[in-house]
Amino acid sequence: MNPYSAIQKKLGLTQELPYTPDWSAAPDFIELIVEHCLQAKPGVIVECSSGLTTLVLARCCQLNQRGQVISLENGEEYAEKTRQQLQAFGLETYAQVIHSPLEKVTLDSNEYDWYDLTLLPDVSIEMLVIDGPPGFIQKNSRYPAMPLLFDQLAKQAMVFLDDAARDDEKELVAQWLKEYPDISHEYINAERGCSVLTLSKRV
Ligand SMILES: C[S@@+](CC[C@H](N)C(=O)[O-])C[C@H]1O[C@@H](n2cnc3c(N)ncnc32)[C@H](O)[C@@H]1O
Repeated sequence: MNPYSAIQKKLGLTQELPYTPDWSAAPDFIELIVEHCLQAKPGVIVECSSGLTTLVLARCCQLNQRGQVISLENGEEYAEKTRQQLQAFGLETYAQVIHSPLEKVTLDSNEYDWYDLTLLPDVSIEMLVIDGPPGFIQKNSRYPAMPLLFDQLAKQAMVFLDDAARDDEKELVAQWLKEYPDISHEYINAERGCSVLTLSKRV
């Protein structure tokens, strides 16, 4: 049985959701982002990594009759695969996948590989989903998300970080909370852990 069949049903999709064991976000993380997206109806959703998350969020935008997904994907073949899946579901107008190769950035004297943001449009991000880059490529792989995207986050934005049960994610969330006093944090005990960060910018 497809582990995503309950989500497929919730989203009123007739086709089975395609997934890759171990690489696709777990069903409970998908449920969390779908629930938020259907309820909050964000205008702009940005994603770090593409795949199943892109498909379900695009479907939420279709159901909401509002919003678009912009997905940053470092792997050209995965970017193309996600575009094809969006087409197969008739959702290509609700999501764009930007091929964003990882490039070196230095933050506080630490070097990271992070998505090339050159092609990210100048949008105000209401929902940010962080499920990449993969954790094994470097220490605290997803730390740059906040310093590099903070200025583009809307005043009231929600951030969903997958794999938050890992030591690296716990460490980088603690670091964000020290650096950004306008963020509050809720940890959800999902299969791989989910950190939900609520931003409420004072200025
Ligand atoms: C954890 S995956 C998450 C993808 C997406 N959020 C989802 O739920 O399907 C993060 C990244 O791993 C890479 N990736 C995806 N499938 C892969 C595979 N089968 N083997 C190696 N890398 C993969 C892609 O670059 C992707 O952006």
